[in-house]
Amino acid sequence: MELTTGEEGTLNGDYGQVKQKAMEILVALGEIFKADRLIEISSVQVAGVSYKTIGDAGLEWIRSMSSEQVTVQATLNPAGMDLHLWKQMGIPQEFADKQLEIIDAYTNMGVKAICSCTPYLTGHSPKFGEHIAWSESSAVCYANSVLGARTNREGGPSALAAAIIGKTPNYGYHLDENRQPTLRVNVEASVYEESDFGALGATIGRIVNNGVPYFSGVKNPGADSLKSLAAALAASGGVAMYHLDGVTPEAASVNLDGVEARTFTQEDLSASYEQLSTFQSGDVDVVTIGCPHASMSEMKKVATLIKGKKVAKNTKLWIFTSLATKLMAERFGYLGDIRRAGGEVYTDCCMVVAPVEKFGFKRMAINSAKGAIYGPSTSKVDVLFGTTGRCVDIAVKGHA
Ligand code: F3S
Repeated sequence: MELTTGEEGTLNGDYGQVKQKAMEILVALGEIFKADRLIEISSVQVAGVSYKTIGDAGLEWIRSMSSEQVTVQATLNPAGMDLHLWKQMGIPQEFADKQLEIIDAYTNMGVKAICSCTPYLTGHSPKFGEHIAWSESSAVCYANSVLGARTNREGGPSALAAAIIGKTPNYGYHLDENRQPTLRVNVEASVYEESDFGALGATIGRIVNNGVPYFSGVKNPGADSLKSLAAALAASGGVAMYHLDGVTPEAASVNLDGVEARTFTQEDLSASYEQLSTFQSGDVDVVTIGCPHASMSEMKKVATLIKGKKVAKNTKLWIFTSLATKLMAERFGYLGDIRRAGGEVYTDCCMVVAPVEKFGFKRMAINSAKGAIYGPSTSKVDVLFGTTGRCVDIAVKGHA
């Protein structure tokens, strides 16, 4: 990889040890993936925030980098707890202390602790064609596919290194040739609910793996459906980008000649719902909504469904979102409706990166395909995957 004189100097330690370490990470990545050079980026989204996922070794590494400042707009992915309501969640003090240390270290570097996997819903939204370095897989897929920005699936360390240097190696989804479709999917099933798009993404992600699917036949998908599709594709496969006819800015200009095609039928949709669930009936301990973090329209939807009802005594209804969305939901009355019904809205974290496995939950109902994929392994729960309406209904009844 060709480096400029300034980049060589950074690599040789002319600008301090932290910048040297960051440059070493970028150069190593660039050499592995045969990048020709480093390119400037405008935005970074840093994953590797939850103490549950990074542990003491991760905390130590962030501490070792924390004397430097980031040079571009950078925000954090969800942490392992609500930064205000962690006691109410049942987070142990020791976990909270470590988590707050991680947040402080990032904040000292200038990374904004929005602690959300949907930065694009709260003002951190790159434009078409911008090169960025994001690491949360659902946000990466959304950025490439819906915003038309260009990012690889960064790891936490490479994202932080990119934020410090302001550059990333030029390979993968930064290049036109890697943004071409590898599988055409004609969607015959009627997909309407956000969870339908999750079910679609979970099936196609498994088939296409780390390729680029091109979807046609989907009518007027909403923004919540697009984020649900992105999250499921990224979780079940290694998808970093999809094309959706009429949505993805580059979809009209791709070459589909010779690209393998398949259909996604109503039967495929039903089968995907079944495959994503590990149980279908019985008591449910917790119902979770907000993976990726709930948007305002999702907050409104849940508030409308639950208003005037009561969450069952032995069941919890937890909604995860960003602080900005929660504050707006409070102003619009949605938070009040949810709380009066016995539900709670948590920010800064989610059911996957919070230590949910320590809360004694055995069975979770969820409207997110990504959450259903990760729930059994990371949160040690059985999962029932369903529409938002079914999930809220289960929260009220206490069982499926
Ligand atoms: Fe976001 Fe957590 Fe889901 S980070 S995409 S809510 S697993």
